[in-house]
Amino acid sequence: MSVVELATRRPTVTVDQMLAHLVPPRQFVDASFENYVPDADHLSQAEARNAASTFFDKDSGGLFRKSSEAPGGLYLDGGFGVGKTHLLAAAWHRARGRKLFGTFIEYTALVGALGYATAVKALKGTNFIAIDEFELDDPGDTMLMTRLLGELMNTGTRVMATSNTPPNALGEGRFAAADFIREIHALSDRFRTVRIDGLDFRHRQNTGRAIVSSSSEIEERMADSGRVTSRDNFGSLVGVLAKTHPSAYHALLSGIDVIVWENVTQFSNQNDALRFVALVDRAYDADIPIRSTGLPLDEVFSSEMLDGGFRKKYLRAQSRLVALTNRPIAA
Ligand SMILES: Nc1ncnc2c1ncn2[C@@H]1O[C@H](COP(=O)(O)OP(=O)(O)OP(=O)(O)O)[C@@H](O)[C@H]1O
Ligand SMILES: [Mg+2]
Repeated sequence: MSVVELATRRPTVTVDQMLAHLVPPRQFVDASFENYVPDADHLSQAEARNAASTFFDKDSGGLFRKSSEAPGGLYLDGGFGVGKTHLLAAAWHRARGRKLFGTFIEYTALVGALGYATAVKALKGTNFIAIDEFELDDPGDTMLMTRLLGELMNTGTRVMATSNTPPNALGEGRFAAADFIREIHALSDRFRTVRIDGLDFRHRQNTGRAIVSSSSEIEERMADSGRVTSRDNFGSLVGVLAKTHPSAYHALLSGIDVIVWENVTQFSNQNDALRFVALVDRAYDADIPIRSTGLPLDEVFSSEMLDGGFRKKYLRAQSRLVALTNRPIAA
């Protein structure tokens, strides 16, 4: 069958599948330091590439590291589409020994599924842990991840993370970050932070706007039996996301070549919007082109949402939606 409805899927993910999924996503299987081309107008890009590519060198960090309390972590902080995940994946490809690559959500879900003590046991001894999209939206996760990373880094695990938020501003505007200042500082002390500036690389290749399809384009899509297309009414999709844990969203999209969402409307509920953001992130990782009707997908977040504490998440999702609606469908 070449047309499926995401809204009828009920993916479950086992712990073994979670662990097996801790590798770079499709979009980044070929990411290397060599094919990262720093923008000459933004020197921070060459610096970030240098910091990431020398991370495993014995004297990495040079003068920045004090041998006794050398930070075992590198934190790449920057705007959208500047190549943070690309560099993170390049580091993972270069790392030796046992190595894991996952999003922050995937690691917290793993700890949730295994329980803290078992998770520490399962992850101890890992040489390199790559954490994409470090985002502390939730006080419980803040405590959990600072504790977990502390234990792992104390026993020699090296960690590299990416985020759109510098470590000392994590949680800002979302929960009482002040109550966790100690944890957040303890965490940021373990990382050397490198900021990457620049233009959204994704917009260099497209119009910068989400494309809306006509109904004839959608019908044409449905007639294409060579590719697996998911076809959903946007409202039903939003409903099903509420019933699926975000750590299973990649499984929700598994095997899909093209996504179609019809009758797109603006979100009025922040939780719905944030779940949708998490789905967009997984669609982006898996590099799945999106076609849609109704409201352009870069207009689904209301102005209040864009002005609120999750602003960066929404802007990043907009950037990714623009990229995926512009993505050609492979022949
Ligand atoms: N300087 C660069 N040279 C080559 N490719 C790049 C460069 N910067 C970004 N890219 C490519 O552009 C796309 C977007 O980059 P990437 O996803 O790594 O950005 P990001 O900073 O992680 O963005 P986000 O904030 O959305 O997570 C990827 O396909 C990546 O390989
Ligand atoms: Mg990224």
